[in-house]
Amino acid sequence: MCEYTINITVSEYESADELAEKFRELVIRARQIAQSAYIPYSGFGVGAALLLEDGAIITGNNQENAAYPSGNCAERIALYYANSQFPEKSVIALAISGIDKNGERVELPIYPCGACRQVMLETETRFGNKIKLFFDGKSRIQSVGSAREILPLSFDKNALFPVSH
Ligand code: THU
Repeated sequence: MCEYTINITVSEYESADELAEKFRELVIRARQIAQSAYIPYSGFGVGAALLLEDGAIITGNNQENAAYPSGNCAERIALYYANSQFPEKSVIALAISGIDKNGERVELPIYPCGACRQVMLETETRFGNKIKLFFDGKSRIQSVGSAREILPLSFDKNALFPVSH
């Protein structure tokens, strides 16, 4: 038997002003698109903004449905749109931002759900690069270097097509 620990490195920023310009813009776009989320059931709005390798920004927000499971998260809407419209362009960064029932930006950074992490990981493996992630909150912004970091021990194409040793 052996044990080991898996660590992740989180960078923390007091505000968007501390970010490099292209990432600051990404966070601002995520904040803006959160305002037009379709959230009649939860009242919790999420905005996602992703950066393509050519500098283009694609945004999405959560879309809810009276049949609850038919709704979808902001991150997956933005990622699937980007991957469908620009299948040759890799995603290099993604920012998410949340607003509460009063339309106020949430105090603490918000993190993507498990399903969205899985889709981010697929995008990383598809294009063969890491996606830098930004989690926005009023009190601080946090960042990690890849989707795999926040989805360790993950299921990916290696499980379906194992390489023999
Ligand atoms: N939501 C997202 O858009 N992204 C996430 O990563 C987590 C949750 C949405 C789904 C639902 O519309 C609302 O937030 C409350 O769960």
